[in-house]
Amino acid sequence: MFKEQKVLLSGIQPTGIMTIGNYIGAVKNWLKLQDDYLSVYFIADLHALTVRQNPTEFKQRALSFFAQYLAFGLDPEKSILYFQSHVPEHTQLQWALNCFTYVGEAQRMTQFKDKSAKHTDNINMGLMDYPVLMAADILLFQTDLVPVGIDQKQHLELTRDIAIRFNNQFGDVFTVPDGYIPKTGAKIMSLADPTAKMSKSDPDPNAAISVIEEPDSIMRKFKRAVTDSGNEVKFSEDKPGISNLLSIYTEMTGKTISEAEEEFVGHGYGDFKSKVAEAVIERLRPVREEYAKLIKDKAYLTEVAKQGAEKARYIASRTVGKVYKKLGLVAKE
Ligand code: TYM
Repeated sequence: MFKEQKVLLSGIQPTGIMTIGNYIGAVKNWLKLQDDYLSVYFIADLHALTVRQNPTEFKQRALSFFAQYLAFGLDPEKSILYFQSHVPEHTQLQWALNCFTYVGEAQRMTQFKDKSAKHTDNINMGLMDYPVLMAADILLFQTDLVPVGIDQKQHLELTRDIAIRFNNQFGDVFTVPDGYIPKTGAKIMSLADPTAKMSKSDPDPNAAISVIEEPDSIMRKFKRAVTDSGNEVKFSEDKPGISNLLSIYTEMTGKTISEAEEEFVGHGYGDFKSKVAEAVIERLRPVREEYAKLIKDKAYLTEVAKQGAEKARYIASRTVGKVYKKLGLVAKE
């Protein structure tokens, strides 16, 4: 499909809190790349319905996440920012793609298996169909690049498989996207258990840091962070806690791991943890301040989301039109 610019797309589910893992694994690269691509960033609210949400809290959280996108500096003048549920083409394409995805493929997804094990009382169709919705999100915009953390790699591979399968039958309909998974910081670990991913819905409040968290709370959580035996600040496999803190520190400061190791030679873990907390607090300070202003201005947020959805629909409807035509559905005049 003809495009003037390369397209980049990504999204976050509005569940729990937006964490420093989401920032380091995804948003940081969005900010880096947004000038070089036609960038599409959405709030993946339909994805979040796969687990039960309290409707009142859910609505507030989705708007809060949207304000956090803007607070980071995602620019609605340059990029397309919107709520997934405002663009019905996502589910229109999903249905078509469902018919090109095998049940076995969906059942093999690690996240489906994990979430099914966690929510045994609610293994709904949406949970299994989630990666197909994600494929629709991506393929709708003829996306070239998808910046995500490592946990989304398998979903991206499925997206590519679906796109190739469709193209093989119908010609060059979809751009086959590439993932952009950072070499460092693609999997930030929990502060309470450095062998588990930092998750935005972790029930343990000490496990994750929100990108709009108050400085004293950030400091407290880092001071409590689980570390390893020994006292050397060194990146190594047998030191998952310290290695995770070093990753966070370097991602927040732009220093390399060896520069950071050098800096903390002879310092104890306690001192190191405080320095990591300070680096996080400083990086997030402008985000928190900007967020505090934005979240009060509902009219502005609503207007940005409305304009974003209009732009998104303009592109997305062309893809759906093309796909439906290829499939032989009778055109609506
Ligand atoms: P979600 O909402 O779980 O996470 C949002 C982004 O943050 C990354 N991420 C992490 N990176 C590093 N360390 C961590 N601990 C960490 N936790 C999360 C994720 O990899 C992701 O990039 N299915 C997606 C949302 C989505 C999407 C899309 C993304 C829906 N449609 C289309 C890209 C393209 C998800 O649940 O991400």
